[in-house]
Amino acid sequence: MCCSCSPDRTTWSSTSSPAPARPRTPCCWRTAPTVASAGRSRCSRLTRCPATRPRPRPGSPRWTRSLPPACARSRARSRRWCALAETYGLTWPGKKDALALAHTPPKGHLSTPNGRLDTVERSLGDVFIEGENLEVLKLLTPEYADAVKLIYVDPPYNTGNDPVYGDDYRDSSWLSMIYPRLVRARDLLTPDGLIAVSIDDHELHHLVTVMNEVFGEKNFITILNWRKRGTGGQVAKNAIINQVEYVVCFARDAAQLRLVGLPNENHGTARWRDFRKAGGQWQRRYRPKQFFPLWVLPDGSVSLTESPGAIAVHPTDATGEEGFWENGVPTTAERIDAGELRGRIIRGRWKIEQLEVAKQTTNAGNYLEIPSTRGTERLKALLGSVVLENPKPVELIHYLLHISDLRDGDVVLDFFAGSGTTGDAVLSWRAETGRDVSYVLVTSDHPVAAGTGAALAGFSTVAEIGLARVRAAADDVEALPPRTLKLVAD
Ligand SMILES: C[S@@+](CC[C@H](N)C(=O)[O-])C[C@H]1O[C@@H](n2cnc3c(N)ncnc32)[C@H](O)[C@@H]1O
Repeated sequence: MCCSCSPDRTTWSSTSSPAPARPRTPCCWRTAPTVASAGRSRCSRLTRCPATRPRPRPGSPRWTRSLPPACARSRARSRRWCALAETYGLTWPGKKDALALAHTPPKGHLSTPNGRLDTVERSLGDVFIEGENLEVLKLLTPEYADAVKLIYVDPPYNTGNDPVYGDDYRDSSWLSMIYPRLVRARDLLTPDGLIAVSIDDHELHHLVTVMNEVFGEKNFITILNWRKRGTGGQVAKNAIINQVEYVVCFARDAAQLRLVGLPNENHGTARWRDFRKAGGQWQRRYRPKQFFPLWVLPDGSVSLTESPGAIAVHPTDATGEEGFWENGVPTTAERIDAGELRGRIIRGRWKIEQLEVAKQTTNAGNYLEIPSTRGTERLKALLGSVVLENPKPVELIHYLLHISDLRDGDVVLDFFAGSGTTGDAVLSWRAETGRDVSYVLVTSDHPVAAGTGAALAGFSTVAEIGLARVRAAADDVEALPPRTLKLVAD
């Protein structure tokens, strides 16, 4: 017999693929430092009983790879078993409890300044809720289930060094904190909804894996790379400046998600550019049908047919290597009729140019450059002093609002709202676009530490900062302030 481990020590990774039935002797588990994807890797045989193997540090998350059979069983049987059992995922001590927490009844109720509120009706419009977000998410569920088009959250990053936000979760407790909240958040998203979660490199890898589990790998959309600063400033010797943060994006259902490009500031502007295809696979062999002569007259007019005095121009580069035109013959004929092609002598050679009119939108990319100082500047502009060091810049949220194709009646939720950047962003975006989108912000009544800018400015909780900020931002665009609700213990 193998060992005396209790079933509790057997760690299953519960990914979307169902876990196989437990073996009768559940003690032969193996913690693998590397990750293997389901079914592809070969099962390695156990050589040591877990009772004699070093145990993982308590509290640290670990990757599980397989639940091999009892040590004494045959290799063939072991292989068969592992083919079933191997799975990919992340597990950690406390995961089961964290999931259970997502489904326990809410502890408390929401209250307005006038008393208890049994349902948070969507018709309330903009809402600011003070309280523990997991409980608030549960209380939002009946009314906001399947109703939130965009969730943006900026949870504590677990860096352990933010005196105001409170940002120090130990090891797997960060996972236990984020997991149930994502589970509840998923239920609030519309079928075509998007969730975007800010993170830095402390927990990026864990976040992506947990989100894969909650939302499904097929619903992964992208990781936005936000370059928030340059490399200037003082650093400890040999330190690397942390220039980038990430925004991990998942859809509730990628098949239904519709993201749109960004408004093109040059919309409608026209410019002439080379009609010969440039860049990438530009050589003739890639599009032989698009290699043909165009006839150009001294006045620059272009034709597909030869005429007296016309010069034949081929799509060749300066060295004479043959390429191809941007369009085939039929489209080229249409574009000539529309006046979109012209001939021009450039450096002694005739070239064909095409007219390009900038479209209404440009593609959205997953790389953004926004100085993080803009977040601080905006907060200072609204509240008069620097009460927090690292609020997100409004422009980062604007980007998400733009690409999410929000329409009248859509709701944006942020349940780690902090200083209320998301509310501020929705307010200015709504004023700019005229789209009737509302926000729901949730943030805790976490006290600010004594001696910080927030405390010196007279704020006692982060929620007070957030509320003051969105009130000021609403004032800025002549909108109504949000309804305020508070989580009250039963
Ligand atoms: C990183 S900050 C968010 C900053 C925000 N994006 C901004 O621009 O100001 C995270 C916020 O979530 C709050 N928070 C942390 N845990 C929470 C919880 N369980 N419930 C509600 N709010 C929480 C913290 O107090 C903090 O204000």
